[in-house]
Amino acid sequence: MNSITQVLTALVSDAFAACGYDAALGTVGLSDRLDLCQFQCNGAFAGARLYHKAPLMIAEQVAGVLRENPVFEKAEAVRPGFLNLTVTDCFLREQALTLMADPHFGIPQAEKPETIVLDYGGPNVAKPLHIGHLRSAIIGESITRLARASGRTVLGDVHLGDWGLQIGLVIAELSERNPDWRCFADDFDAEKDALPQLDAPTLNEIYPFASKRSKTDEAFSAKAHAFTYELQSGRPGYIALWKEILRVSIADMKQNYQKLGVDFDLWYGESNADKFIPRLMEVLTEKGLLRESEGAMVVDVAEETDKAPMPPVIIKKSDNSSIYATTDLATIIQREQDFHPDRIWYVVDKRQELHFTQVFRCAKKAGLVPETTELAHLGFGTMNGSDGKPYKTRDGGVMRLSDLIATVTDAAREKLTQSDFVSEEDYREIAEKVGIAALKFGDLINQPARDYVFELDKFLSFEGKTGTYLLYTITRINSILQKAGVTEDTPLTLSGIYTESERELWLSLLLSGGVFQRALEERSPSYVCENAYQLATLFSRFYHDNHIMAEEDSEKKETWLCLCRYLRAMLLRHLDVLGIEAVEHM
Ligand code: ARG
Repeated sequence: MNSITQVLTALVSDAFAACGYDAALGTVGLSDRLDLCQFQCNGAFAGARLYHKAPLMIAEQVAGVLRENPVFEKAEAVRPGFLNLTVTDCFLREQALTLMADPHFGIPQAEKPETIVLDYGGPNVAKPLHIGHLRSAIIGESITRLARASGRTVLGDVHLGDWGLQIGLVIAELSERNPDWRCFADDFDAEKDALPQLDAPTLNEIYPFASKRSKTDEAFSAKAHAFTYELQSGRPGYIALWKEILRVSIADMKQNYQKLGVDFDLWYGESNADKFIPRLMEVLTEKGLLRESEGAMVVDVAEETDKAPMPPVIIKKSDNSSIYATTDLATIIQREQDFHPDRIWYVVDKRQELHFTQVFRCAKKAGLVPETTELAHLGFGTMNGSDGKPYKTRDGGVMRLSDLIATVTDAAREKLTQSDFVSEEDYREIAEKVGIAALKFGDLINQPARDYVFELDKFLSFEGKTGTYLLYTITRINSILQKAGVTEDTPLTLSGIYTESERELWLSLLLSGGVFQRALEERSPSYVCENAYQLATLFSRFYHDNHIMAEEDSEKKETWLCLCRYLRAMLLRHLDVLGIEAVEHM
């Protein structure tokens, strides 16, 4: 559907043309001063320059034409040349009916098909998920949903760190603890021999242990490097063990991601990029981009306009091993081959900005993707503790994601009153959903690139811009609809618009689609959070001003219930795009 501002822009453009001016001057936007009018057009100022006339004169002429049109309740020219517009309730109601019939909730749909690969996982196998992975997951999931809501195809890739030194460390440590495992024998045969078996607690304990050990024990560190090299060269016993590490680690990750309401289409990892490295080397060689530097192979990516030094990107180290940039470049080859995407977006900590600048420049120079393909790093800031430093556990360690989820669930439990729940199970389930909603909303309300402070009390508050407030608003609407016996299929007619608070609410609902569009353009779900909050506060006012259940005029009552039901659906659409699950009651 065309948004209300598009419809009005068309009308005002025609009016400019009717007065002999360029129709392009007729762009209409929401008014800066809602107390004066609903919409405004500032085209008369640009017109003044084009036609050498006073802006007010142009605005007055156009307003004169618009006043003939029954769409406008008010069309006024205001000093020094603004065009202030307010539409009639009749027009607003028609727009509301069109919106309610739109399966896309007024969200503008992509004009041509578009495929986006979104890289928003990046957890490292063998290491437990920690809160560093939280923001990639939460923001990436929401951007995925935003892009899908606008009719784009998105492929979410977890891009596991599954091929590096951390695996060598785990294998080295396991080999010392279990020297008799068949997978460590030189003649290991994956077909005949017993395969290694691991469990999550062992894995979660062993990596931090081995990592710490490698920092002081040089022999052990050398061993881990050697094991990594042998693994990457395909030694069967290590490959078998690697597969088992992957199996256990991924199952554990999936559980946490699922609790967070985060999902990926592709569970690829850095290891999948391995087979594209030879192709990468070929292309870089063909194009003459590789250069030797201190035994390593590098590609220069500095540009004349660079203000800061831009080091060359290292493709192969002096020991011929591949590094982070190599896998990212090889992965671009794989993504181009498999999906031919229009965009590849990386939701990764903003501290990796240099890495991505180097990788993107190298990819474009080498022609790994067409010139038109957008490669973008959506860098995000850190979640800090109240001391302003990256959030830590009480003893100063990195907090595991599973512990963070438990913390928010417990806090939500304390906040909710047990007596409101039918069963203990109900209580626990709702506390988890409320806790996670608070956590996700508290994150997404911030522009991604900003750091923010994790304040659980504030995030869980029933007032203000919080996930809790939104879930609570929806439960309030649920109970109104329930009391009135209204379900999804109850036929309800929207007969008119009766009060100021309704008018405001419909205006906001009609503009919501544009908010989703802006959020995607700026790749910031925070706009969706802000809009959901605004809708919820407007609902509070509407509910306070109009006594729905006591209303005797049945047409009015039905209209209000119709608004409540649509608002509920719209709020749920917002939450869905944020990846937040609502609760029936709380
Ligand atoms: N595994 C990496 C890390 O822990 C993050 C990967 C992000 N994605 C990417 N394509 N580089 O830092």
